[in-house]
Amino acid sequence: MSSYNITSLNDFIIRKQKDFPYAKGELTSLLHHIGTAAKMVNSKVNKAGLVEILGESGTLNVQNEEQQKLDKYADEVFIDALLASGECCGFASEENQNEIVFTETFAKNSNYVVCMDPLDGSSNIDVNVSVGSIFSIFRRTSPRGSEVTLSDFLQEGSRQVAAGYVIYGSSTMLVYTTGRGVNGFTLDPSIGEFCLSHPDITSPKRGKQYSVNEGNYLKFPEGVKKYIKYCQEIDKSTERPYTSRYVGSLVSDIHRNMLRGGIFMYPSSESYPQGKLRLVYECNPIAFIVEQAGGMASNGRSRILDIIPDALHQRTSFYAGSEDMVARLEGMLR
Ligand code: AHG
Ligand code: MN
Ligand code: MN
Repeated sequence: MSSYNITSLNDFIIRKQKDFPYAKGELTSLLHHIGTAAKMVNSKVNKAGLVEILGESGTLNVQNEEQQKLDKYADEVFIDALLASGECCGFASEENQNEIVFTETFAKNSNYVVCMDPLDGSSNIDVNVSVGSIFSIFRRTSPRGSEVTLSDFLQEGSRQVAAGYVIYGSSTMLVYTTGRGVNGFTLDPSIGEFCLSHPDITSPKRGKQYSVNEGNYLKFPEGVKKYIKYCQEIDKSTERPYTSRYVGSLVSDIHRNMLRGGIFMYPSSESYPQGKLRLVYECNPIAFIVEQAGGMASNGRSRILDIIPDALHQRTSFYAGSEDMVARLEGMLR
C-alpha cells in the first residue's frame, strides 16, 4: 500500500477555501507563497553553520537590537514571496522602521497586508536552538488601487483574517488559522512539502508547565510573582509543582504549551517596562492561534486581540496558553 495518504498544505488550503468568506484563491496564493518562503528560510536555518549566515549583520534593527544575518535574509525572502503572491499590497515587520509599500499596480490592486516577525528567537540561531517565523494577515482598510498606509497595519488583532507561525525545530512545522481552528503541517524534506500532521489542534484547558524568564523575577508585578509561587507549591491534587520550561523563542514555547497545555508569560521587566514582545507581529498572531486552539491570550488585564495598536513596534506584557491557567493569573494580577 503506497503511503500516498498525504494532505499537502496546498491541498488543504484549497479544500478549506470554501470556508473563507471572500476567498477567490487570494488567501490560497498568500499562504502558498508563505509556505515556499518558509522552505527557503528553513534550508538556510538547517545549515546555518555552513553558509556564512550565522552571527550579527553588524546593523541594528529599529529597536536598536543587533540584527542577525538570518533576520535580514528571512525578511527579504518573505517580502519577495508576498509580492510574488500578487495578493499582498504591503508588509510590516520587526526588521523595518516603517511599513513597506508595494507600488506595483498588481499589488496596489490586491486586498491583504501582512505583518511579520520573519525570524523569532534570533539569539538562539548561533547555538542551534529552535527559531521561528510569525505572520499576521489583515484585509486592507485603505481603498484598492491606492498605496497602503500605516493604518492598514494598526488594526486590532480581532480583525486578522489569518495568522500562523513556522517553527524551525527538530522538525519544521507550519501552523496556521483562518478563524476556523488551528492546523499543523510538518515539512517532509524528501518531497519538499508541508504535510498535514496535526489536524485541528486544541489546547488542554490546564497544563502542568509554565514558561517565563525567571531572571527577571525581582521586577515582575506582584500578581506574577504570586502565580509563579502557586505553580511551585506542592499539591498533588492539582498536579503541582508544575514544570518550568523556557526556550527563549516565543514560537517554541507557545507551540509546546499549546500541544501539551501550559502558560507562557512575558511580563513587564526592568529592561522592558512595557513588556518585551511586540503586539503587531508577535502577540496578535500568536493570540489568534492560541484562542482558536481554545486557549487565552491577555496583557494581564484585557484580551490581546482587543487592543488597538498605536504604533507598529509597540510592546506589551503577554500571557498566553491554557484557559484555566491564564484566567487564574489574571485573577492574581487584579
Ligand atoms: P526576536 O528574536 O524576534 O527578537 O524575538 C525574541 C523574543 C521571543 O522570541 C522570546 O520569547 C523572547 O524574545 C525571549 O526574551 P528573553 O531572552 O528576554 O527571555
Ligand atoms: Mn520575535
Ligand atoms: Mn525577530
